[in-house]
Amino acid sequence: MSSIESVLTETRIFAPRDAFRQAATVSGLEGYQALCDAAEQDYTGFWADLARQEINWQTPFTEVLDESDAPFYRWFADGKLNASYNCIDRHLEKRANKIALIFEADDGAITNITYKELHQRVCRFANALKKQGIGLGDRVIIYLPMSIEAIVAMQACARIGAIHSVVFGGFSAKSLHERIVDVGAKLVITADGGVRGGKPVALKAAVDEAISQGGCEAIKKVIVYQRTGIDIAWHAERDLWWHEIESAESDYCEPVWVDAEHPLFILYTSGSTGTPKGVQHSTGGYLLGAITSMKWVFDHKATDIYWCTADVGWITGHSYVAYGPLALGSTQVVFEGVPTYPDAGRFWQMVERHKVSIFYTAPTAIRSLIKLGGDLPNRYDLSSLRLLGTVGEPINPEAWMWYHKVVGKERCPIADTWWQTETGSHMIAPLPGAINLKPGSCTRPLPGIIMDIVEEDGTHIDGTGGGLLVVKKPWPSMIRNIWGNPERFRKAYFPEELKGLYLAGDSAHRDEDGYFWIMGRIDDVLNVSGHRLGTMEIESALVANPLVAEAAIVGRPHEIKGESIVAYVVLKGERPEGDDAKTIAAQLRDWVGKEIGPIAKPDEIRFGENLPKTRSGKIMRRLLRSLAKGEEITSDISTLDNPAILEQLKQTVG
Ligand code: WT7
Repeated sequence: MSSIESVLTETRIFAPRDAFRQAATVSGLEGYQALCDAAEQDYTGFWADLARQEINWQTPFTEVLDESDAPFYRWFADGKLNASYNCIDRHLEKRANKIALIFEADDGAITNITYKELHQRVCRFANALKKQGIGLGDRVIIYLPMSIEAIVAMQACARIGAIHSVVFGGFSAKSLHERIVDVGAKLVITADGGVRGGKPVALKAAVDEAISQGGCEAIKKVIVYQRTGIDIAWHAERDLWWHEIESAESDYCEPVWVDAEHPLFILYTSGSTGTPKGVQHSTGGYLLGAITSMKWVFDHKATDIYWCTADVGWITGHSYVAYGPLALGSTQVVFEGVPTYPDAGRFWQMVERHKVSIFYTAPTAIRSLIKLGGDLPNRYDLSSLRLLGTVGEPINPEAWMWYHKVVGKERCPIADTWWQTETGSHMIAPLPGAINLKPGSCTRPLPGIIMDIVEEDGTHIDGTGGGLLVVKKPWPSMIRNIWGNPERFRKAYFPEELKGLYLAGDSAHRDEDGYFWIMGRIDDVLNVSGHRLGTMEIESALVANPLVAEAAIVGRPHEIKGESIVAYVVLKGERPEGDDAKTIAAQLRDWVGKEIGPIAKPDEIRFGENLPKTRSGKIMRRLLRSLAKGEEITSDISTLDNPAILEQLKQTVG
């Protein structure tokens, strides 16, 4: 474990302000400790009580945690509920006219929709889905821009027990195809296009291309939301306009009561092999995690105006846009556009305009906004803010301090939330009225979440020290399976050496106060702008190009994106030089854009006649990482089969 050492020596501490602490749902360290103690004394009782308090069950559960088929854990298994009922219907009696969504379009146009209106739209759309033959357990792909419709589509699936799989609009037709096939979808919901930063984005065209690739015979219908009015190809026997089918339906749709373990959704994420994993979440446990964390970490109150900037294509947009806030009856802002359009003051302008009180975004956005307009927040009235949050990657202390001072005016606690697609909800994060903050640390695990740091064989590391981040006990919102691949699920998250511990795939260390500091991934997964990308996935995409013989991808630290992607490529023919190299590099970048999506395009490509390998043929990635950073190679390269290659791989082409 000697390679996992922390370099951070941050010592500043920020205690909750008195006023915040006194008003907080969980107040003071004693409040936090009391919850942790309750969970320790009776783990299942703790979660069962919360599940009864926070969720409306159609049939109450009698079993809490079923461990008989571990690691395929089951929570609240004999209970029945509906997620959409819990997110919408249960607010209708008291809060029907409360605004649920404040949608701000790319061009600044605003649409408000109340819980009552949301209920009608979800019911109508759910009825329309039923008419197309969609029902319990059917998989539906959602490929939409950020919109009210995206949330309506997800909620409508949940209402009828269909399982949605949202694909981020930035993924290519090829990636979309892969997911349609893997999940066995029957229907796709998309838009003609989207608008981001004043520019149109085509979506329907990608759906057409994906479906034409074959293997999608199960897709009977494509529902198209008309967002931009751009010209699109139309398959009359297959395509349906959203507005036409929605308007034909009635305002009420009876929710389908599902078992707590019924999959609510499947969301694909990258792992350390070439194919993405379909992370399968439950209904009951998942919803409970989203609700409890909204209350504990965001200290969410009925009066809050809440804004999470994540796209529904990621887990954050599921737990903290489409489900958590609605389950709490929140008023939330939903934003179609990008933080830098029309300028880098957009977020702050929107905070002012909508009087946002809880604001949740990613470190990469914060860093880019510092760079593009570090003083822009000062031009806006941000006095409505009371809590800030971050997610996706470690936040560097400088960015933390800027967020704290310039955005939060030293008034707002910052919740640095560590979690994953697989964990479903926050795992390590400060309860802001209870926990002192240290810039750069996600602080301490949530009550009822039992985290540890261990050696590679699962041995607990006592006190301070670095190692593998693990979860010791199953928790309600945990991943249930990898869709169609239980063996991969077991191997990836519950490897035998760890004897039942959940392996997060991150390394971390704990300081003398028991605070966790995340150091980064231990597998071949990159974190680019808070998005997870598997190096193998990008390598496979490159190797699929007819020019390419071999490729290796590594990450390099990047001041805004966290990590950038460096590709080492061996072509089938000669190693290209000069303008040739530039042209081919540009072609390959575009190729990856088409194979996976623009987010996976390498920032830099270097060509070699070969890759540095050990005599046994293993690519020496550590060496490639050093080369990418421009470091002198001081380590022993005598085991290297072809040391002369290193000179070539130092040269960058663009
Ligand atoms: C990986 C999970 C959870 C939603 C967004 C990303 C990294 C996430 C933090 C944080 C340090 C973080 C980890 C984790 N990560 N949040 N607050 N501090 N690292 O979800 O795509 O599933 O990625 O993101 O490496 O394993 P994801």
